[in-house]
Amino acid sequence: MSLPRIKKLDDQLVNRIAAGEVVERPASALKELLENSIDASSDKIIVELSEGGIRQIKVIDNGVGIHKDDIPLAIDRHATSKLIHEDDLYKITTLGFRGEGLASIASVSDFSLSSKTNIDQHGTKIISNYGVISNTSPTASNTGTIIEINNLYHNIPARKKFLKSDTTEYGHCRSVFERIALSNPQIGFELKHNGKLIYELPQQVLLERIKALFGEEYLKHYFEIIEMQINNLVISGYVYHPSYIASSKNVQQFYVNGRFVRDKVIQNAVKQGFSGVLHNEHAPQYVLFLQISPEDVDVNVHPTKSEVRFKDTGQIHGFISHAIRKVLSRNLSSTSLEHSSDNSLIETISQNTSERSHNSDYTPTNSFGSVSKSGNSSYVRDFNYKAEDNSKFVKDWLPQTISSNSAMVRQDTAPELFAELTDCSQVINATAPTLGFAIAQLNGVYILAQTRDGLIVVDMHAAHERIVLEKLKSQVANNVIAVQALLIPVTFSIAEELIDSVTLNKADLNTLGFEIDVIHNNNVVVRAIPSLLDHDNIEKLVIGTLTEISKYGNSNIISNHYEEVLSTMACHSAVRANHQLSLEEMNAILREMETTSRANYCNHGRPTWFKLSMNELDNMFMRGK
Ligand SMILES: Nc1ncnc2c1ncn2[C@@H]1O[C@H](COP(=O)(O)OP(=O)(O)OP(=O)(O)O)[C@@H](O)[C@H]1O
Ligand SMILES: [Mg+2]
Repeated sequence: MSLPRIKKLDDQLVNRIAAGEVVERPASALKELLENSIDASSDKIIVELSEGGIRQIKVIDNGVGIHKDDIPLAIDRHATSKLIHEDDLYKITTLGFRGEGLASIASVSDFSLSSKTNIDQHGTKIISNYGVISNTSPTASNTGTIIEINNLYHNIPARKKFLKSDTTEYGHCRSVFERIALSNPQIGFELKHNGKLIYELPQQVLLERIKALFGEEYLKHYFEIIEMQINNLVISGYVYHPSYIASSKNVQQFYVNGRFVRDKVIQNAVKQGFSGVLHNEHAPQYVLFLQISPEDVDVNVHPTKSEVRFKDTGQIHGFISHAIRKVLSRNLSSTSLEHSSDNSLIETISQNTSERSHNSDYTPTNSFGSVSKSGNSSYVRDFNYKAEDNSKFVKDWLPQTISSNSAMVRQDTAPELFAELTDCSQVINATAPTLGFAIAQLNGVYILAQTRDGLIVVDMHAAHERIVLEKLKSQVANNVIAVQALLIPVTFSIAEELIDSVTLNKADLNTLGFEIDVIHNNNVVVRAIPSLLDHDNIEKLVIGTLTEISKYGNSNIISNHYEEVLSTMACHSAVRANHQLSLEEMNAILREMETTSRANYCNHGRPTWFKLSMNELDNMFMRGK
């Protein structure tokens, strides 16, 4: 059998083949139109959909318009105003460049386009029916472009079958609209569906756009704002505070030079940026904009342009995860709640900001408004605290100088407490530590502390766990782990499979501060442990650590898994529930938290503290109403 003879496809068929890739559904057609309007420098874009976009998609913009003689070309395949030389292909600064969006859409719809530039007296309208131009005529219109797509895929029933219900298609269109509106807050947008106004978004700053799209509740929670530049890479946007991912909105948007992309490298970098601070039941939430020299990223990978290829993948990966890690590792003193009168918090991490002007072509136009830090109280804790009372609080790390610190408050009896609290407020006014001063311990689990404007509740186990972990990490990183030799070595038996771990990882265990030998049968003797850790239950600590180590196949544990191993060690040693702390000890924990990296969440990504402001308390009691 032989194949039929080869012949060239006609243009219509070529367009329809391309349409299969570019215009999968109404939402993809909408994306093409919106991107064209943005490339045309519009500052107001109106979208009208009917029946989920299947019946009609209409986009009206006030951009620069199309020269009247070029209008038929706009729906011709391989016709674009965005690429002139081949070189341009390797430094794309517009969203479109392939010259196939409109041709593909027009080949599978009843299509019309009217446009007027500001030098034309009147506009020009072109009508095309499934790829065949039926009419071009003058029309009255404002400067800008109006495109109508009717009855998408009506001419190709085999294709139309793949479209889902109006509701589903509308949902996709709305997501595309939100995604594009989010990355272009400087443009005013409107969205109507079946005549109903869904969004009316004025030109605004990014945070106001987020509020308009995702609601005030979403914005009320705690954001960490990122703005960092290293050489020609700029990242800006925000990550949602890992402790407060309780919102039903799951927002994960990443843009490269203003283009929304889904990219494995980026997703992995974000995940790594969150490692060690995100609870495993939660996904990271973020809206991030990466600006990169157009020469360093190839956007011509896929017809829908939702994938990109970076010249230096490793550099991009490292940069993104570093920026996120850095912003999530700030300690509390650098995220002072007293930042401004309305408790708003804008934190910027910026390196070489002076170089930013070099990138002015693709520097983000977004400017951040302020984010309210209040409203954390609506966060509902969904973690069950596991009370354990069999371990003693390790005091070794408490600063010895604590009692002589004038900012500390010490009260042991109730009457004194009240007297001292007056003093305390004065001290607070003078020095205002972020987490205030301890006033009591609640049910052996929480530390309650007073600040100038409210109440702080700290989960003492979670907070202490983070403090111990960060100290261990810094000791191990600097190779100066403090070791406590045991006066009386401790002997116990361990499971057979852990015996191997002891022998194979002797050097690593030493680096971690343990001195352990196998003696006979399944018995080990522990001669030294890290001095930061709890000496009261050495057996549990050692078995926990060895179990964690044995998960990683006995190789490169320190270099590849030290965070997990140290995390297990810290968890075994953190102060347990029902351990009574003195005010002095509680204040020491608060002060330590203020200077510890990542102190907002424990090693498992659970929050370590939250604040109830006086306003929130007043509201609860209806004071002033
Ligand atoms: N809303 C608009 N305002 C002004 N010009 C437009 C508009 N829409 C399309 N054009 C013009 O029509 C041309 C063709 O648009 P089309 O979307 O088919 O291709 P493209 O945007 O150049 O590339 P791509 O296929 O990657 O989107 C554009 O290059 C642009 O000059
Ligand atoms: Mg286009």
